[in-house]
Amino acid sequence: MSQGFNVAVAGATGAVGVEMVKTLEKRNFPVRSLKLLASSRSAGKTAKFHGTDVVIEEMTPESFKGVDFALFSAGSDISRDYRAAVVKSGALMIDNSSAFRMENDVPLVVPEVNPEDARLHHGVIANPNCTTIIMLVAVAPLHRAKKLIRLVAATYQAASGAGAKGMAELAEQTRQLLNGEAVHPAAFAHQLGFNLIPHIDSFQENGYTKEELKMLNESRKILHAPELMVSCTSVRVPILRAHSESLNMEFAEEVTPEEVRAILSKSPGVIVMDDPAQKIYPMPKDATEQYDVLAGRIRQDISRHDKRGIDMFVSGDQVLKGAALNAVQIAELFV
Ligand code: A2P
Repeated sequence: MSQGFNVAVAGATGAVGVEMVKTLEKRNFPVRSLKLLASSRSAGKTAKFHGTDVVIEEMTPESFKGVDFALFSAGSDISRDYRAAVVKSGALMIDNSSAFRMENDVPLVVPEVNPEDARLHHGVIANPNCTTIIMLVAVAPLHRAKKLIRLVAATYQAASGAGAKGMAELAEQTRQLLNGEAVHPAAFAHQLGFNLIPHIDSFQENGYTKEELKMLNESRKILHAPELMVSCTSVRVPILRAHSESLNMEFAEEVTPEEVRAILSKSPGVIVMDDPAQKIYPMPKDATEQYDVLAGRIRQDISRHDKRGIDMFVSGDQVLKGAALNAVQIAELFV
């Protein structure tokens, strides 16, 4: 038998699933066999892996026999439905949904930040929320150096966060609007083309959305910083697949923009793009299809009397670092 692991991708036809397959291929993950799983609607279709056609199968609880890694991106309900079958089969479930992220015995892992937590799994490891991953790749190294106390974020989130149907809706709506045709929002609560929607996931009693509270709760868990304070406004923007975030950070210690640039330029997974005079700063266009998170517009927060505040802007590919790449990197921790 050839070397490598038996890998299954659940949700293989989705926006993230397709990128999981491409990422396994691009990073030369040691795959002995690959199972592509989706709903009955996709069964029989094929997808390429290293030049070979792989037939997509309908996912059933029996699909995971002999599987080592099961990368899931088919939504929370499906993850919940399949968890027991996957764990029973002995596969490690790496789950992109929000279903298990806050469970105590489910590690929530960004490999650049808390790889050691992955070892504590009981069959399931959760991939954090995309905006949280993109933020923490750039913020965790600063937290380690200067201790982050409070962070205020505004996010600019791409259509891909709503899956392939979200991206298709934005593209189609843009065409319709340019042609003066009527639009019919379905993946989003409102028209997204030529608009912004300050509403991602459901509203909670305190006026925040679930998406906004993920930035607080998931950051605390990943950084092991239960006292960290985070407030966020999450906004859907008419961009296809890269998220951006405006971050205002307060640290326990004083920190200068020069120090931030020096720390980030040595941090894995981050590229500092910060030369305003040359019009160099992070933009979703440049983050698209990149593995690394772009960080720039780094400056001292002038609303404070001390030097403990920093403002920064980041962009990262939601489908890659925000989802598929992070999941594959988690599997790589076990190779
Ligand atoms: P399918 O294409 O067959 O519907 P996205 O997040 O881009 O919308 O993708 C969702 C993914 O989850 C797709 O691959 C989709 O497959 C898959 N999926 C949806 N429902 C099921 C199901 N009941 N069983 C397995 N996979 C599912």
